[in-house]
Amino acid sequence: MTATADRVEELGREARDALAAASDEDALEAWRTGTLGRSGTLTGILRGLGDLDPDERREVGRAANVLKNELEAALEARSAELRGAALAASVVEGAVDVTLPGRPRRRGGLHPITQTMREITEVFERMGFATIEGPEVETDDYNFQRLRIPTDHPARDMQDTFWIELDRTLLRTHTSPIQIRYMDSHEPPIRICVPGRTYRYEATDATHEWMFHQVELLAVDEGISLADLKGTLQEFARALFGSERKVLIRNGYFAYVEPGVELAVDCFACPGDDPKCAVCRGAGWLEIMGAGMVHPELLEAAGYDSSRYTGFAAGMGPERIAMLKYGITDIRNFYANDLRFLRQF
Ligand code: FA5
Repeated sequence: MTATADRVEELGREARDALAAASDEDALEAWRTGTLGRSGTLTGILRGLGDLDPDERREVGRAANVLKNELEAALEARSAELRGAALAASVVEGAVDVTLPGRPRRRGGLHPITQTMREITEVFERMGFATIEGPEVETDDYNFQRLRIPTDHPARDMQDTFWIELDRTLLRTHTSPIQIRYMDSHEPPIRICVPGRTYRYEATDATHEWMFHQVELLAVDEGISLADLKGTLQEFARALFGSERKVLIRNGYFAYVEPGVELAVDCFACPGDDPKCAVCRGAGWLEIMGAGMVHPELLEAAGYDSSRYTGFAAGMGPERIAMLKYGITDIRNFYANDLRFLRQF
C-alpha cells in the first residue's frame, strides 16, 4: 500500500473517533469543516489525486470516495442522534408539550335503558298519552293500600319492599301509585304515561334486578273497553319489536284491575323449550308487563262515577323490553357500568 493510501485509512480511523466524540452541534460543524469542508483533510486528499501516478490515483481515489460517502452518512446519523438527545433533555418533567397533537374528546351517549324508555314514551305520546312523573319515595297508602293491597294481603309478598319507615314510607315497588295520585287531582278523560325508577328487595338473576324501571299507562274515559287495551298494547309491541315478534296476552292477577292480564313476548334466546334458558326457563315467553281494566273501586275512590267511566292501566319493564330488542340475555349487564357493554348502544 502507498503512503497516500495509508493516509486515507488513518484519516478514516481518526474521523470516525472524532465524530463519535463530538457532543454538540458546534463540535459536529467543526468536524465537518475539518474533514469534509473545502479545506478539510479528506477534501485535501481528493484534490491531490491529480498529482499521483495513475495506478496510485485509481487506488487512492476509490478508497477516498468510499470513505467520503461513509463519513457523510455517519455525520447525518450522528447529527440526528444529537438532536434527539437534545430534545429529550429539554423536556421538563410535567411540562406541557404544545407541539403534541390534541387528544380527541370522547363522546358520551345515552344509557340503553334511557333510550328504550324514550322510545316507549314516544310511541304512547303518538297515541295521545301525556308523559308525567311521580315520586320514587312513596307512602304505603299510595303504593299498596289504595291499590286494594291492605297490610295482610298476599300480593305484598310478590313485591318485596325496601321500607324507609315500616308500613309508612318506602321506595316504590312499581309505578302504579301514580294512578291514584293522578286520579285524585284530575277528572277524565285521562291518558298518561309515567316512566320512572322502581325498587324491590329481589334476589337478582338474569331477568330480575333490585332497581329497575317501569312505564305506567293509564287511560280513563267513557266507553273504554278491554279491546282498547288490547289494541293499544298490540300497537305498542308492533312499534317496538316489529311485526315478526310473537306477543301473548294471558290472564294475570293484580288487585287493582279487573280483569287483569300479562303481556309476554316470545323468547329470543332459545327455541322456546330449553329448560336451562336463563331468559324464559323453557316457558318460551318473557313477561314484559302487567295490565288490565281499572278496578271500579279505584274509580269510585277517586270520585268518578264507575257506571259512566271505565279505564285501563298497564305497567311495563323497559329492561325486559331492551333485552328483547337487543338480544341481551342477562339484565345485570345494564347496571354493571362496563363501558365495553354500554358503548355498543
Ligand atoms: C306490576 O308491577 C304492576 N304494577 C303492573 C300493572 C300496572 C298491572 C297496571 C296492572 C295495571 P309486575 O310485578 O308484574 O307488575 O311488574 C311489571 C313488569 O315490571 C314486569 O312485567 C317486568 O317487565 C318488570 N319487572 C318486575 N320486576 C322486575 C325486576 N325485579 N327486574 C326487572 N324488571 C322487573
